[in-house]
Amino acid sequence: MMELAARLSGLSAMVTGGAKGIGAAIVRRLAAEGVRVAIFDRNAEIAQALAEDCGNGASVAAVDLTDFAAVRAQIALQGPFDIAVNNAGVDQHAFFTRTTEEDWRRLLAINLEAVFNVTQAVLPAMQERGFGRIVNIGSEAGRMGSRGGSVYAAAKGGLIAFTKSIAMENARYGITANTVVPGPIDTPLLRRAVEGGGEKLLQAMENATLLRRLGTPDEVAAAVAFLASREGGYVTGETLGVSGGMGIAQA
Ligand SMILES: NC(=O)c1ccc[n+]([C@@H]2O[C@H](COP(=O)([O-])OP(=O)(O)OC[C@H]3O[C@@H](n4cnc5c(N)ncnc54)[C@H](O)[C@@H]3O)[C@@H](O)[C@H]2O)c1
Repeated sequence: MMELAARLSGLSAMVTGGAKGIGAAIVRRLAAEGVRVAIFDRNAEIAQALAEDCGNGASVAAVDLTDFAAVRAQIALQGPFDIAVNNAGVDQHAFFTRTTEEDWRRLLAINLEAVFNVTQAVLPAMQERGFGRIVNIGSEAGRMGSRGGSVYAAAKGGLIAFTKSIAMENARYGITANTVVPGPIDTPLLRRAVEGGGEKLLQAMENATLLRRLGTPDEVAAAVAFLASREGGYVTGETLGVSGGMGIAQA
C-alpha cells in the first residue's frame, strides 16, 4: 500500500485563482501535503501573504490569466509543474436576454480561455516527464444548466468536455485530467452572487442540495488533493461532483 506521505510530497503544482476561496484552500491543502505550490492570481498582495503562510517554497505569479503571453512566461519561469489546477473562475447572474456580448467574452475568457492558456503551456513538460495531473474546477451549472447563468454554464460545460478530451489525448503520457464540480461553496464568489437576495437566496441554495447545507472550500480541496495525487493515477476523464448531492437532489 502506498505510504500516505508519498501521495503528493515532492511534487510541484500551480493553482490558478489560488489567492482566495476554493483556490486558497487547495493551495493550503497541497502545501500541507508537501507540494511546492505556485499561486497564479491577479491579486498579488493576498496571494503573497498566503504563500508566506504556507511555506514549503510556495510562490506567486501575479498574472491576469486571460493574458496568454504572461501566463506562458510565468509557467516557463516557475515550472515545470507535475500538477495544474485550473480553478480561477467568475460567475455572473443575468438572464440571457440581458447578457451582453462583452459579458460573453469576459466570462468565457476567464472560465474557459484561461484554461486553454494554462493547459497548452504545462502539457509539453508533463508529456516529456511521463507524469501529470490536471484538475479543473467546473460547476454543477456545467452539467445541469443554470437559470440566470447561461454563459457561465456554457463555459463550465465546455470545460467538462475539454477535460475529457485532454484525458483521452494524454493518457499514454501518464497524464490524468479530471473535473471537480462544486455545488454552492461558501466563498467570496458565492457571497457576491447572493448579494441582494440575502438569507432567502442562501436558503434556496442549501435546499438545492441533498445535504441541505453549503459546502466548504476544504471539502473541494480534499477531492482535488486526491485527483492530483500519485494514488489517484487510475482516475481520468471523470467529473466529480462535490456538491452535497445537488445533481440528484430533485429526483
Ligand atoms: N463558490 C461556489 O459556490 C462555486 C460553485 C461552483 C463552482 N465554483 C468554481 O470554483 C472556482 C473558484 O471559485 P471561488 O468561489 O473560490 O471564487 P473566488 O471569487 O472566491 O476566487 C476566485 C479567485 O480567482 C482570481 N481570479 C479571477 N479572475 C482572475 C484572472 N482573470 N486572473 C487571475 N486571477 C483571477 C481572483 O483574484 C480570486 O482570487 C471557480 O472556477 C468557480 O466557478 C464555485
